Amino acid sequence: AKKHKVTILGSGNWGSTIAKIVAENTKQHKDLFEEDVQMWVYEEDVVIGKNSKYYDASAGDKPQKLTSVINHHHENVKYLPGITLPSNIIANPSLIEAVKNSSILIFNLPHQFIANVCKQVDGHILPFARGISCIKGVNVTDDGVSLFSEWIGDGLNIYCGALSGANIASEIAAEKWSETTIAYDPPPMDNSRNPSPRDGSPNPGITVTDLQDRSHKDCRGRTCKTKLTALPAEYPPLDHDCFRALFHRHYFHVQMVSDVAGVSLGGALKNIVALAAGFVDGRGWGDNAKAAIMRIGLMEMVKFGKEFFGETVQSQTFTETSAGVADLITSSSGGRNFRCAKKAVEQGISVDEVEQKELNGQKLQGTTTAFEVNSFLKARGLEKEYPLFTAVNDILLGKKDVKDIPNLVATVTDGA
Ligand code: NAD
Ligand code: 13P
Repeated sequence: AKKHKVTILGSGNWGSTIAKIVAENTKQHKDLFEEDVQMWVYEEDVVIGKNSKYYDASAGDKPQKLTSVINHHHENVKYLPGITLPSNIIANPSLIEAVKNSSILIFNLPHQFIANVCKQVDGHILPFARGISCIKGVNVTDDGVSLFSEWIGDGLNIYCGALSGANIASEIAAEKWSETTIAYDPPPMDNSRNPSPRDGSPNPGITVTDLQDRSHKDCRGRTCKTKLTALPAEYPPLDHDCFRALFHRHYFHVQMVSDVAGVSLGGALKNIVALAAGFVDGRGWGDNAKAAIMRIGLMEMVKFGKEFFGETVQSQTFTETSAGVADLITSSSGGRNFRCAKKAVEQGISVDEVEQKELNGQKLQGTTTAFEVNSFLKARGLEKEYPLFTAVNDILLGKKDVKDIPNLVATVTDGA
């Protein structure tokens, strides 16, 4: 019997944390997974300074490759400093080598880089691989808005689910308890132990040849022509049990659901709200103001989901899962988008400037998501229907001021 080989595409703050979780689990579930986990690293040079415990006097200040530092010291000194990574994580600078023969691909990088990464791996992955997107963002094109899980799936002809939750990486890397939500709802084709989550019917066990031209419903309930290839029978089924085994830890509790669109949207849209929470906090308004932002933000998230992904998205995903309201709260309390927006207002500089100055290469997702969602709403004449999302866009662009927020959202707060 075969085992699943796992690759993480991305090695930032969250990418490295997820790699740690997954590598701990592959070691524990050797019946399901190959122990070694590939982690693709966007290669860069790092300097190990005199204050680091890894300082090597003979190398001095000579820059070293991040991949060799990770493989040698088992620490991502740039994006997850201070956390020891399991030694079965193999940092790999070659995307094509990293994805070779992997049946599970975990996409975990800032959303602005995913298009280029998918282009490079296309044609180099196993046709029956399955993906999980940990990316928080949406993809806006002239045709509309799509989710990265959809975009990855369509682009690579694979099925891709989504993982999202109230998951500030540094806390999870330090093994402080948190929950997460994984949405995984493939068409009933894999030889699955679980009944198909979509209709509860037993899995029909379709063969590869049957599948070549079979259309199926995508995560929005639309007929999708992506040609999925069934997982060969010698592999353990890639079902909810398998993904729980891959991601669940005593400090990282996994809830499996089937609403891929809701889980993906929750993670993307809360970043816009977290910026607004940072703006009002930075202005010195109190917890009441922040709670108002979260309430209005949650309403706009649900409305957006219902309006544009209405076929499948469930309001409860926003109001009851870690990927919804819980992520909104944690991100609006201590996430990077919140912290950078707060500092920007306090220091009278732009959020981009704070990101450059403070994040040491980590990337905010909220600013680009705010612009992308705004361009999508504007093209449809819907800016006024989403006053908070619109206000965040306008404040980022310097067209409005934080003090205007109460008036800008008055249609929601007092029906003005
Ligand atoms: P990060 O903010 O640490 O981003 C830096 C990463 O981007 C580094 O790995 C860097 O090498 C890479 N990078 C830089 N330029 C690149 C390029 N041109 N091409 C490809 N990669 C490049 O990343 P992260 O925190 O791991 O975030 C990944 C995703 O996870 C995001 O969508 C984020 O919203 C989400 N997320 C983050 C957290 C968190 O707490 N950090 C928690 C949950 C979800
Ligand atoms: P930030 O990217 O704002 O840090 O949010 C992290 C996150 O998604 C927590 O769940």
